[in-house]
Amino acid sequence: MNHLDTNTPGLLPRIAAWEVLQAVSAGAFAEIALRRALKKHLIKGLDKGLVMEIAYGSIRQRKLLDSWVDFLGKVPAKKQPPKLRWLFHLGLYQILFMERVPDSAAVNTSVQIAKNNKFTKLAPVVNGVLRSAIRNKNLGVTPPMPNLLEEKLAQEQSLPVWFITLLIDWVGVEKAELIARASNKKTVIDLRVNRLKVNIQNVQELMNGKQIQCESIEDCPNGLEVSDGSGDLRNWPGYEDGYWSVQDRAAQLVAPLVDPKKGDRVLDACAAPGGKTTHLAELMDDIGELWAVDRSLERLKKVANNADRLGLKCINIFQEDASILFHKKSSWKNYFQRILLDVPCSGLGTLARNPDARWRINPANILDLIILQAKLLDGIFPLLSKGGRIVYSTCTIHPEENEKQIRKFLNNHSEMRLVLEKQIWPNFDGHGDGFYIAVMDMT
Ligand SMILES: C[S@@+](CC[C@H](N)C(=O)[O-])C[C@H]1O[C@@H](n2cnc3c(N)ncnc32)[C@H](O)[C@@H]1O
Repeated sequence: MNHLDTNTPGLLPRIAAWEVLQAVSAGAFAEIALRRALKKHLIKGLDKGLVMEIAYGSIRQRKLLDSWVDFLGKVPAKKQPPKLRWLFHLGLYQILFMERVPDSAAVNTSVQIAKNNKFTKLAPVVNGVLRSAIRNKNLGVTPPMPNLLEEKLAQEQSLPVWFITLLIDWVGVEKAELIARASNKKTVIDLRVNRLKVNIQNVQELMNGKQIQCESIEDCPNGLEVSDGSGDLRNWPGYEDGYWSVQDRAAQLVAPLVDPKKGDRVLDACAAPGGKTTHLAELMDDIGELWAVDRSLERLKKVANNADRLGLKCINIFQEDASILFHKKSSWKNYFQRILLDVPCSGLGTLARNPDARWRINPANILDLIILQAKLLDGIFPLLSKGGRIVYSTCTIHPEENEKQIRKFLNNHSEMRLVLEKQIWPNFDGHGDGFYIAVMDMT
């Protein structure tokens, strides 16, 4: 019988999380699927955090959780009906990773979901697998590990084997392990204070008044780390007034390296949603000609909204493919003193922040990105004025998208000189994304 019992305590957040897992496995972005599920089930307050933690955690740990299903189930994870596979994941994640959730709550809610969703017959299987997981956990027994080092680390840290193989190749086993772990760390939220309106102390005081704790960040002059705060950020003090933006500390390094001056002509060629465009405008005291170009009109609307909220007026918006910008805007030949190219990339430096990214990206689409990045670099070069500066940045740690890409560009453009290059690895404690920045000046 299919009877919907939503009286079981804590059931609704689990149903919402389960739906997020299903949507993401069908191709949806985690952030969007989460927003939809929260809205559909009218989930409020602390329960929002619970849904996010269970859903994002289960997506991140997909590979490890599959190994538990393989170990405990009669049918391997990938051969399970998808709804059941994600229901196992939902329960297992709570049992294995969430200390504050009693094991009984994880089992009862998962069994109830099975009963409510036309697989009542399978409810005993869910019950059996989850109870067996609890027994094994309490005895310290875990699924068998593969022998191959790459496969073992991939299973342990729930990452694709191809990524671990590359990581070991790039940085050796020891550092690869640290980076793999960093990809699963809880990340902190960093803010960038809008220096045209307020200073760091003003924002700290405002936040303290609402029990939100923020600390300054070393080597990040306008940055604040949120050490304690919850709820919808848009309701935090100062957001609507444009006193701050959310921006990771590594991303906050980029605009200062572009070093725009008041009155400069500046191009941000892959600008949306505008994190770095608005930072550039703030550094220019909102005086000058700053162009935010992006291929996506939808995303450019976010740049406009952010600029409005922050009270920035010097930003102009233009939708175009930046790799052919020169052909579309011939008046821009040698026009810009500063160009920022924050290219689309594999995002391998931000895996901890984006739970589904590791399952979305693969070597074939990275190859496409490398080709696109090269086109973008060549496409914006004719727009640079004599003596100007190009800053190229990515949020990945893949050398082909980073230093190797830039070496190729420099080899083909002898008038450009590399002034500074930084590969920032994802912070091992979740404080800061992995990032790459190259600063090149025309001689
Ligand atoms: C890494 S994001 C940029 C993030 C942005 N700089 C920020 O700090 O908020 C890359 C952007 O490049 C855009 N993009 C991708 N291909 C492009 C192209 N050929 N021309 C212009 N923009 C492109 C994407 O729409 C995306 O908004």
